[in-house]
Amino acid sequence: MTSPTNPKTFRVKSFGCQMNVYDGERMGEMLAAQGLSEAGEGAEPDLVVLNTCHIREKAAEKVYSDIGRLKREDGSRPMIAVAGCVAQAEGSEIMRRAKTVDIVVGPQAYHRLPDLVAKAAAGEEALDTDMPARSKFDVLPGRSKSRRTSAFLTVQEGCDKFCTYCVVPYTRGAEVSRPWAAIIDEAKALVDAGAREITLLGQNVNAWTGEDEAGRSQGLDGLIRALDRLPGLARIRYTTSHPNDMADGLIAAHGDVEKLMPYLHLPVQAGSDRILKAMNRSHTRDSYMRLLDRIRVVRPDIALSGDFIVGFPGETDEDFEATMELVREVRYAHAFSFKYSPRPGTPAADMDDHVSAAVMDERLKLLQAEIIAGQVAFNQGCLGRVTQVLLDRVGRHPGQLVGKSPWLQSVVVENATAGSSIGDMLMVELLTAGPNSIGGRIATRAAA
Ligand code: 5AD
Ligand code: SF4
Repeated sequence: MTSPTNPKTFRVKSFGCQMNVYDGERMGEMLAAQGLSEAGEGAEPDLVVLNTCHIREKAAEKVYSDIGRLKREDGSRPMIAVAGCVAQAEGSEIMRRAKTVDIVVGPQAYHRLPDLVAKAAAGEEALDTDMPARSKFDVLPGRSKSRRTSAFLTVQEGCDKFCTYCVVPYTRGAEVSRPWAAIIDEAKALVDAGAREITLLGQNVNAWTGEDEAGRSQGLDGLIRALDRLPGLARIRYTTSHPNDMADGLIAAHGDVEKLMPYLHLPVQAGSDRILKAMNRSHTRDSYMRLLDRIRVVRPDIALSGDFIVGFPGETDEDFEATMELVREVRYAHAFSFKYSPRPGTPAADMDDHVSAAVMDERLKLLQAEIIAGQVAFNQGCLGRVTQVLLDRVGRHPGQLVGKSPWLQSVVVENATAGSSIGDMLMVELLTAGPNSIGGRIATRAAA
């Protein structure tokens, strides 16, 4: 199988978290700036970038089956680049295991992708998993004009928390905040290109710190307040947050910044203090619950979301029951739950008392049922409200447009296509609720 030289078309496939989606977009924009064009649907691209996720074993192994599937019917294959966190964690091992991989590039080095493509085309080794001192953001081209109603903007990367199960501090490196001016400029460019909603991204986004244009030190709340003043921007969100970085100013912002949406992804991972300690979360169940109380005082309707791990080493039935109780008590609007997956190089992988697969399966089933019941209850609690919906796609049935409520629910709006289009903000009456979406009808057209 020969790999094509000098690719003219490309496709980027991103897996895992929203930051990978953002990185994938930036890689695509950079390749486009180099004169390559994105392969249309169904077309065979000359270059495929697999932007991978290493967070759990299944996600990491997926890359190898995806590589195998890139072989074409005639026996040829595209040029293959493995990017993202698997690239960072496994480096040259990937090329050893999958001989058809031409390029391996880590999440802090992808601004060098064009050079790596040229190297691969010349038959040279193309591997770059550096964490260079000069940020990729200084080198990447400006944001493209592809009109998108809701856009991601990475403001912070990396993690210093070292939860004992997690690979992120190793694959994404230490916590780094992007500078204020770069973020404001990118936000303006996104709004100019049609974005009405911006989600600020970071592995620990609420740990963002920086200095504003007057040299005053600021936290994430300062940045949010600056974006609140940006004309044309209607909504601000941020994700993912760590409970220990919820500063007073950020909590206050939830009460008085109008464009900041009432939604907060605040993972707790487990409900048992013994397990939280073994996870090195450095918060307790109680400190987390008190934090939620403080947020609910300023924003009573806030929709909370979380992440949970079941079957962490040593988790007993009693520990698991504490997680179930916490879920019942918090009443999450949304939550993700995962079976613990031992990751090479993390402290938890070497702990004793690993929980059996069967027990993990059983616990995950119970937890997911509880989470879904909470989601349905949250959605039903919203019925009757008349609220703003930002339309972002067409629906499955004629006349329908779909958008997001302030609480990040997908709202299917009936009879909407006649007078509205994607990017519009509508006032919608919420009428029916399922676990994953809400049905509604237009109340009035909101003032932009
Ligand atoms: N096993 C299972 N889930 C994990 N997560 C992170 N590391 C692991 C692991 N080793 C989950 C956490 C985190 C989310 C992004 O992925 O819940 O918040
Ligand atoms: Fe991983 Fe913990 Fe950092 Fe989140 S806070 S990225 S779970 S180490």
